[in-house]
Amino acid sequence: MDQNLPARVAEEIVAWDFVFPNDANPYGSMFGGKLLAIMDTTAAIAAIRFAGKTVSTAAVEAVEFVHPVVVGDRLKTTAKVVWVGRSSMMVRVDVYVDLGTSFKRCTHAHFAMVAFDQHRRPTPVPGLLRETAEDEKAFKLAASIREQAIKRAKDEKAQS
Ligand SMILES: CC(C)(COP(=O)(O)OP(=O)(O)OC[C@H]1O[C@@H](n2cnc3c(N)ncnc32)[C@H](O)[C@@H]1OP(=O)(O)O)[C@@H](O)C(=O)NCCC(=O)NCCS
Repeated sequence: MDQNLPARVAEEIVAWDFVFPNDANPYGSMFGGKLLAIMDTTAAIAAIRFAGKTVSTAAVEAVEFVHPVVVGDRLKTTAKVVWVGRSSMMVRVDVYVDLGTSFKRCTHAHFAMVAFDQHRRPTPVPGLLRETAEDEKAFKLAASIREQAIKRAKDEKAQS
């Protein structure tokens, strides 16, 4: 976080998609990779709008495919910056199947996004204002996911 950049509230980004036959396996279930691509794009838009800078995905954490998604489903994907560091942000992404009068959450993940300057160097992002108890809960969860991710990345680096 940069003290010179005013802290701000993160907006929730919403994306809608239809699941087409070419998004699925021969049994009609959507490929996880296609779903992750939708989630990555939505997370990137949330991060870019929050930081006002270009971003890149550093890591995808805590992905869970809770319920299958099938051809013909309408998907609602939400993404919101829930934690910020100096140049990195954690974006919480949820995917829901639209059931008409309600939504069923089928997948969720946290995307670690890094803001870049024009030379593709990590650059500071604004602070994050947390206004609600829900914001605080999301912040703590993301902080703990990130802490484990950083530790794992360090272990991985030490081994290679
Ligand atoms: C992400 C990337 C910029 C990090 O580079 P780096 O040399 O580790 O840079 P830094 O050490 O300055 O880290 C920058 C920030 O990223 C964070 N970061 C780096 N690796 C991370 C990881 N695995 N998970 C979460 N955050 C991570 C750092 O903690 C730091 O955050 P902070 O500024 O908020 O404290 C670099 O690895 C990269 O460019 N990767 C490729 C990204 C890409 O191409 N993505 C598209 C997918 S194909």
